[in-house]
Amino acid sequence: MTTPAHLSEGGISRRNFIATTAVAGAGLLAGATALAQTGTPDQRKRYALVGTGSRSSMYRKAIFQTYAEHCQMVGFCDVNEGRLKLAQRKAKAMGAAEVPIFAAKDFDRMIRETNPEIVIVTTKDATHDGYIIRAMELGCDVMTEKPMTTDEKKCRAILAAQQRTGRKIIVTFNYRYSPPRTQVKDLLMSGIIGDVLSVDFHWMLDTHHGADYFRRWHSHKANSGGLMVHKATHHFDLVNWWLSASPVTVQANGKREFYTPQMAKRLGLQSHHERCHTCPESSKCTFVLDIEKNRELKELYLDQEKYDGYFRDRCVFRPDIDIEDTMNVIVKYDTGVTMSYSLNAFNAWEGYSICFNGTKGRLEHVTQEKVSVNGDGSVPGALKDEGTSIRIYPIRAAAYSVPIWTGKGAHGGGDDVMLAELFSPTKPADKYQRASDQRGGAASILTGIAANHSFRTGETVQIATLVPGLKRPDYPAMPNHTDPVPMPPLG
Ligand SMILES: NC(=O)c1ccc[n+]([C@@H]2O[C@H](COP(=O)([O-])OP(=O)(O)OC[C@H]3O[C@@H](n4cnc5c(N)ncnc54)[C@H](O)[C@@H]3O)[C@@H](O)[C@H]2O)c1
Repeated sequence: MTTPAHLSEGGISRRNFIATTAVAGAGLLAGATALAQTGTPDQRKRYALVGTGSRSSMYRKAIFQTYAEHCQMVGFCDVNEGRLKLAQRKAKAMGAAEVPIFAAKDFDRMIRETNPEIVIVTTKDATHDGYIIRAMELGCDVMTEKPMTTDEKKCRAILAAQQRTGRKIIVTFNYRYSPPRTQVKDLLMSGIIGDVLSVDFHWMLDTHHGADYFRRWHSHKANSGGLMVHKATHHFDLVNWWLSASPVTVQANGKREFYTPQMAKRLGLQSHHERCHTCPESSKCTFVLDIEKNRELKELYLDQEKYDGYFRDRCVFRPDIDIEDTMNVIVKYDTGVTMSYSLNAFNAWEGYSICFNGTKGRLEHVTQEKVSVNGDGSVPGALKDEGTSIRIYPIRAAAYSVPIWTGKGAHGGGDDVMLAELFSPTKPADKYQRASDQRGGAASILTGIAANHSFRTGETVQIATLVPGLKRPDYPAMPNHTDPVPMPPLG
């Protein structure tokens, strides 16, 4: 088991079973009370949430506002008492009844006393596994943020627990749902460029958003798996899903050369420092994050530091950072497709370009995103107007642009579409099969986990050695690799 100490009992104990059964009874009782008071039983789905930081606000708003008719929040859990109380106050401000709060060590008690059907996991990445596994052992389904977890051992433990308990895991891959990315899937499915043989994919993080990963828990691999896992899980998931394919081998190089103490000096600073809030050189440094000035950052982090010493604004040039800022990866897929991918965290613009090279032509898709810093009130991953394009280059014929499917809001408009699928009781059939379970969650992290191994060893890593026998996720059918290909015109 890889669960944290306070969650480390294997399986459901007799005591817990009795307690759980008793709570199930209590849940029924609560339903009966609602029945007595209103004449109708409370049919709303019961959610508990662990990890009340920045990302959790999207789920809280969906449950307290957009889907309040169908959903209720029965408990909050976190290591930080201050953030728990803040989440409780914000729930009240959204018109909800008082949500009971629980310290992380009381996670089991929260489940027993509040009887949720689904546990939402939005803690820092390396702690997801403990909550996912324990929630399933206690009889709940799970909705977890990406990355599902950060290394192969934890991944194997989650898959084994899911098999053992038969519970459901949803990994919330919001990027799949943004309209232009769904459109790319639609075009590839249509066979417009034939079957895809190779992919060139480059993701750029700029020096605002990119720098932000070097300020906090993400900057240590033990917490996040590095950007190869924390960030690239989105990108590798998109490719797996776009291609309807699973990664087989990975070879990679990674280094940190920008967010370093040496760079602080090259930028004219005397030295790196501990954090922006107390930095003697903050007026000279344009990488400064003033968390006092921003209301959301202040109340979520600065005001809660006294509980856990979590500084949100640590110096991005600290020597103790151990994640990479420059990464190049080569991947082979089970469909025969090969991909070259890069991720750089110090770019001049934010976004990505991806090219699919097919038997009938090439699809080029570029997206520029607006700058965002998580938790500062900016819209994360919002697309720049006119910054997204899809162009088709048929072999030996004129290239043309495709009108873009549009969406508004966070993560290219993906968050809202995904929330509707997660929380609305009526779910229309989805021909793109965007919902993902633990198989998709595992497939998306294994490329990055393999890349982390390859950074260290220089070797090509076989995915099957990390998680043997991983079942293929459900993906839509794609153009066939053996169908006849039309002879291109003379051109
Ligand atoms: N899908 C997306 O686009 C997206 C965007 C942002 C973040 N995320 C994911 O959401 C998760 C949360 O990220 P965030 O930006 O909100 O971080 P955050 O630091 O703002 O919040 C994390 C919360 O988890 C709590 N926590 C830490 N360790 C814990 C433990 N052991 N037990 C219980 N609680 C614990 C912290 O106190 C904090 O309240 C991460 O997994 C991140 O990868 C996803």
